[in-house]
Amino acid sequence: MQSKIDLYTSEIQGFTPENADELERFRIKFLGTKGIIKDLFEEFKGVSAEEKRVLGKVLNQFKQFAEQRYSALKEGFGSQEKDQQSSEDLTLPGSGMEIGGRHPLSLVRKEILEIFKRLGFVVAEGPEIEDDWHNFSALNFPEEHPARDMQDTFFIKKNSGRDDIALRTHTSSVQVRLMEQGKPPFRALMPGRVYRNEAISARAHCFFHQIEGLYVDEKVSFADLKQTLYYFVQELYGEGTKVRFRPSFFPFTEPSAEMDISCSICKGEGCQMCKQSGWVEILGCGMIDPNVLENVGIDSKKYSGFAFGMGIERITNLKYQIKDLRLFSENDIRFLKQFQSEIV
Ligand code: DAH
Repeated sequence: MQSKIDLYTSEIQGFTPENADELERFRIKFLGTKGIIKDLFEEFKGVSAEEKRVLGKVLNQFKQFAEQRYSALKEGFGSQEKDQQSSEDLTLPGSGMEIGGRHPLSLVRKEILEIFKRLGFVVAEGPEIEDDWHNFSALNFPEEHPARDMQDTFFIKKNSGRDDIALRTHTSSVQVRLMEQGKPPFRALMPGRVYRNEAISARAHCFFHQIEGLYVDEKVSFADLKQTLYYFVQELYGEGTKVRFRPSFFPFTEPSAEMDISCSICKGEGCQMCKQSGWVEILGCGMIDPNVLENVGIDSKKYSGFAFGMGIERITNLKYQIKDLRLFSENDIRFLKQFQSEIV
């Protein structure tokens, strides 16, 4: 009996079935109700008590071995079979696929670009890694302006030997590139990511997105600026939204202003978003400083223009009442899913 068990053991060890049918025949042969193991146990009943002591253990081990081998082989076939089935049976239902949605910032950027497109503005882009000239100097920033400070700007020190390379702090740098490369008139919108060295919180982030606007031609006036932005606000936030301009300062515009709109959330009644004032600031703007035009080789006696810049996050917050800036970059699917119905 011992020698029989040895023979069967090596047979089982060498058994590698090609398909599930072969494996089933193996099961019937060894583990079936009329199989070899059953026979061995029958035979065991007839051996002497002395032999039983040794063979009992051997037989049980052999049975366990055969069972384990069978279930291991079966597992391998199981997954293979499923694959085959699903690739062959075309009537089986497909596995569901989640449909993504557009990011709220992309949705709002698209909407803004479309409004200005109707006024003849084209889209232009520039690099996120900028030099001092395009980000500051050409835009009339004095040498000692605080925005150039390490605390605000991420400077990049590489082995280039230059120490004036930085991540752009605003999209106004693209104005400079555009005007350097072409000739007036210019009518362009410049969207992009900008960087500032700020501690990350609900209200500030080390990067965000802006859209810059530029209009340069002969006889462009502040009235053109006001009418353009007024049209933009009516389109984006709805007819009847009020606007107001407050005097401000930017090195690259003179005069400069900040534009507020009547709070889109409480309609001017006063709420948390507008700090009970009924107004919220949405952008900075102004008439392009003649120094800037001269810096890029445009005759400031012949041409004038206006520029404006807005943060896409801010516009989006006001539209969707999002209170924490960090949500935009965390990629939490629960947050992003809320905008799925807006796929366009
Ligand atoms: N560059 C300004 C900023 O980052 C925004 C800005 C203000 C852009 C006035 C303009 C402008 O073009 O005219 O805060």
